[in-house]
Amino acid sequence: MNRKTFLKTAALAGAAGMVMPKFSLGAGLGSDKIKVAFVGLGGRGTGALINMVDADENIEIVAVGELFPERVEAAKKKLSEHLGRKYKGNGQKKFAEIWKTTGDTTFYGLDAIDKVLQTNADVVALVTPPCFRTPHIEKCLKAGKNVFAEKPVCVDATQLRKIYNELVPLADSKGLKILCGTQMRYHSAIQEAVNRVRDGQIGDIIAADFLRYESSYLHGWYDVPKNLKPDDVEYQIREWLAFRWTSGDQIVEQYVHNLDMALWAIGKLPVEVVGSGGRQIDIPYPERGDRFSNCHAQYEFEDGASLTAACRQEDNTSPYAPFKVFGTKGTLLMSFGKQRILGEKPWESDYQKKPELICEHEALFGAIRNGTPFNTLKTCADSCFVAIAGRESCYAGKRLKLAWVLEKSQQNMVPDNLKLTDKKPVEEVPVCGKYKLV
Ligand SMILES: NC(=O)c1ccc[n+]([C@@H]2O[C@H](COP(=O)([O-])OP(=O)(O)OC[C@H]3O[C@@H](n4cnc5c(N)ncnc54)[C@H](O)[C@@H]3O)[C@@H](O)[C@H]2O)c1
Repeated sequence: MNRKTFLKTAALAGAAGMVMPKFSLGAGLGSDKIKVAFVGLGGRGTGALINMVDADENIEIVAVGELFPERVEAAKKKLSEHLGRKYKGNGQKKFAEIWKTTGDTTFYGLDAIDKVLQTNADVVALVTPPCFRTPHIEKCLKAGKNVFAEKPVCVDATQLRKIYNELVPLADSKGLKILCGTQMRYHSAIQEAVNRVRDGQIGDIIAADFLRYESSYLHGWYDVPKNLKPDDVEYQIREWLAFRWTSGDQIVEQYVHNLDMALWAIGKLPVEVVGSGGRQIDIPYPERGDRFSNCHAQYEFEDGASLTAACRQEDNTSPYAPFKVFGTKGTLLMSFGKQRILGEKPWESDYQKKPELICEHEALFGAIRNGTPFNTLKTCADSCFVAIAGRESCYAGKRLKLAWVLEKSQQNMVPDNLKLTDKKPVEEVPVCGKYKLV
């Protein structure tokens, strides 16, 4: 390390008030590898694996925790094909440099994470169904691992409180980095749009409308073996999108992205919500789970502003996803692509410069290499909090204060010490007006 680089490194470490980082800045030149382990390597896990490799070639995948061997094989194949396309004749060599997981560091079962945490991984990527996220984050932090946690980071009030009260401070006190998978935060055009809103370019925010209507009801991505029945835990974990305890329902599992964009633009959390929702009558029950297929929640803010939040996944309906923030001087039209401002200061963005799913990992690996603080858990938990409150209001059809969810709700949907062979009776689909808030 020359003197100039040393001074830069020392200044970064000093600025962060921390010890010198484990990874030298020379890592970018090929000297240090960041070791990554995956827990959950299905659709998004495989996507995140490829995004990580695109974000930083200097990583190694050293361990995997999964339930099913075919998912690991499928992920390896996709990574190998991706590297083959990217590096042409050198694809296989690159794959061998990156994929260091062996039979000894591939673990199966609901407790696979415990074995993954005994490996030398620096970062653990948590990409299982949502129900496991909070307990897995806790295990990772206690084991001293940095974390990539896909959204949502919690599914109920018990998990939410655990995150706010214990896990956010634990990560900070240990100087561990946590990236959460609300990737729109790394979308350059949305970043610019939010900066413009902060700069007063649409005036004071008075309302927002965020609709996410999908034209199909999402359930499992894979076939469920015929011998499994809906009350088998293994059935529910395979079909996790359809069950409330595994997914948190659409409003928490998927729509949290949109709530996160709305809350980011508005810049504060609501204080009250009133909602309603239901389930398309011909969605098979219990085979397709116990969740709603639509939720509509009206959130109120302390200053009188409101957010209309609606999500739907119903077959043969119109897909529609407008995200609008209304101010006293203009309107921000957000999207996953271009952003626009209408009104006194009209503006239209370019498309984002690089996919946000890559940028998020650049941010995490950059923080690890530079030893700079990086903990996005509280921000992601805030959006999950608002989603959980909205869901409960929609199920009950009742007006709720968000503080009630945070301070009083005893909801605890995820059983401890689960076994894949356990039985778990399928809950009834909530009925507005009858659903009991706990
Ligand atoms: N950020 C995004 O845009 C985005 C997109 C899609 C999914 N996601 C999130 O990613 C997560 C995973 O979604 P997916 O589509 O990949 O689901 P998936 O069903 O394709 O993959 C989940 C994998 O986790 C494995 N698994 C389940 N429980 C496990 C456990 N306890 N230990 C180890 N492995 C376990 C399953 O076998 C499966 O292969 C969800 O939280 C989802 O909300 C995020």
